Amino acid sequence: MRTLEKAEIVGPLGKGYRAGVYALSDGRVVKLFLSRASSLSDATTEFGITRHAWAAGVRTWRVDEIVAYRDRYGIVGERINGVTFETALRTGRIGLARALKELLSLHLQLRRVPSPPPSLMAARSGGRADAALASIAGDPTAFAGEGLCHGDLAPSNIMLDTDGRAVVVDWSAAFVGPTVADVVVANGKWRKALARKRQRLRHRIAAPIVAFAHRVLVARQMGWPPLKISLPLRSLS
Ligand SMILES: Nc1ncnc2c1ncn2[C@@H]1O[C@H](COP(=O)(O)OP(=O)(O)OP(=O)(O)O)[C@@H](O)[C@H]1O
Ligand SMILES: [Mg+2]
Repeated sequence: MRTLEKAEIVGPLGKGYRAGVYALSDGRVVKLFLSRASSLSDATTEFGITRHAWAAGVRTWRVDEIVAYRDRYGIVGERINGVTFETALRTGRIGLARALKELLSLHLQLRRVPSPPPSLMAARSGGRADAALASIAGDPTAFAGEGLCHGDLAPSNIMLDTDGRAVVVDWSAAFVGPTVADVVVANGKWRKALARKRQRLRHRIAAPIVAFAHRVLVARQMGWPPLKISLPLRSLS
């Protein structure tokens, strides 16, 4: 494993709860995990899942290698030139209808991904995934179709690239389960993000409408009955 030199790191691009993403001097990025204890397994698992999704045709970042940096580990890969959907929506760079269309396209891409090998997912434990699964446990028969779930399709984990296309990042909450779980999580996260106080008034008003439109669009595209999927979706949003 290569050791990343400090001089290669140009500057920060984004920060979440467990990691920071930094631009590298060669034009790529590194996602560095914060927690020392689990840093290597976090990096290895996320690297494997991201690569699996990328190879299956999901628009995500291309990951190249795992690196060591001081007492931490990270994933080096392609830099997505663009902003998160969170920023794009807030600044009016993308409209709600267009954003929904891109989200739907991601759901469809994700649904086609075959389940990764169990060894890759072994280090994954529940959390948000459990919440999503618990919420649909009432009627599992309505949601046939297991596969790789991203687990956190929040607007902060989807980027809008310079071609105006959605690219999903951050597979840290991924799991294997009913693919409708991603719809459940996305619906709640988008509604919450749009309804935030600092958002424009029209977004706050639009939040429940967008959530409903998301449900209907998904139901139409994926053949899930809208009434049935509205039950679990409501419980998480
Ligand atoms: N490949 C990339 N190219 C450019 N910017 C990126 C890339 N990946 C992530 N980012 C930026 O960094 C931010 C944080 O990345 P990410 O969501 O992967 O980390 P995180 O939320 O800290 O992850 P975790 O949930 O594991 O704590 C993103 O919201 C985005 O702004
Ligand atoms: Mg994130």
